[in-house]
Amino acid sequence: MLFIIVFFLNLLYSSYNLPFTTKEVIKLIIPGMTDLHVHGPQYAFRGLGMDLELLDWLNANTFPEESRFEDLAYAKKAYEIFVSDLRNSTTTRACIFATLHTEATLLLMDLLEKSGLHTYVGKVNMDRNGTPALQEKDSDTSYADTEKWILHSLQAYSNTKPILTPRFIPSCSDELMRKIKKLEKRYHLPVQSHLSENINEIAFVKELVPSSSCYGDAYRQFGLFGNEVPTIMAHCVYSNKEEIELMKRSGVYIAHCPESNINLASGIAPVRKYLEEDMHVGLGSDIAAGSSLNLLKSMAMAIQASKIYYRLVDQSKKPLAFSEVFYLATLGGGSFFGKAGTFLKGYAFDAVILDDSHIRSPRKMNLEERMERAMYLTDEIKIIHKYINGKFIF
Ligand code: GUN
Ligand code: FE
Repeated sequence: MLFIIVFFLNLLYSSYNLPFTTKEVIKLIIPGMTDLHVHGPQYAFRGLGMDLELLDWLNANTFPEESRFEDLAYAKKAYEIFVSDLRNSTTTRACIFATLHTEATLLLMDLLEKSGLHTYVGKVNMDRNGTPALQEKDSDTSYADTEKWILHSLQAYSNTKPILTPRFIPSCSDELMRKIKKLEKRYHLPVQSHLSENINEIAFVKELVPSSSCYGDAYRQFGLFGNEVPTIMAHCVYSNKEEIELMKRSGVYIAHCPESNINLASGIAPVRKYLEEDMHVGLGSDIAAGSSLNLLKSMAMAIQASKIYYRLVDQSKKPLAFSEVFYLATLGGGSFFGKAGTFLKGYAFDAVILDDSHIRSPRKMNLEERMERAMYLTDEIKIIHKYINGKFIF
């Protein structure tokens, strides 16, 4: 219910008389969007190599690409493109995975700070099941590098903040997880990771942490599953009842990444169920398993995925409505940043101004219709201005 009320309030803020025609009112003013899960380094190979499932895809495509970020010249080129495209999108805030490389992660943070975007950025922790070119030597090295990166980044920026980023349980030894917990306690940093994305991944986690009763419980055993600090888990395609209870109890945010889940044949996350359970849910592009930074596309795909789930999996779970995915892309994810993601009083002014006047139609449309159409016809609209926390970005 909340998202429907918020949706209409948001539209009212940008309107006085309904209905308008596209000629009478040229622009749509909407709250900025939050990308709750994106891998900055993977932007360099988006649109490629989608014929594998998660674990093979990581080994064949992702780890080799991320290993290039040891080379700062390559990292600079790749991150400049990523940050420039993110700045020009409808996204105003984002939670970003970098790589395990400290220097390249700081370089990414420098660029993000200059862009005006508000972000959390994580130097990735991974000390097992990587490749010789992409794996930290041991948990001590990972811990020392992570602390060095935290100390540098905590002081250096206003709008770019560090977030602890154990890649996922298969990448992090028990010792490393305990050390990340130590850092969480010492610096009170939020946490981001992946959860229950793929069936083989879930089986692997059970092998690696045999005492865990579900994947989420493996994080919980190390104290890295919400409660003390804000925590985002990407995907949650296969979260069972117990895992859902754990997430609810600890206030974990779910980053729903519909395009990624389809591209890697992972499955469809039961978002309707999560909304019924009043859980925190936002949207993630999950580049490069997702191909696009455009959250308007993610919104449309979230609706489409929910329709397939409804039709083929569970007819008691009604498909997501436009107002609901609008909520997920704005306040749903934005609330991870505090008072962000809506035009309601007391919130940061994050706004994106869209020009839909190039879409040709003889029909008169009200604002909600125009916004729904802008989502589906996103290639035909232009993003003309952006404000973040009241600051003019372009
Ligand atoms: N799980 C662990 N690492 C990754 C990643 O880079 N992308 C996705 N989609 N899932 C992951
Ligand atoms: Fe991911």
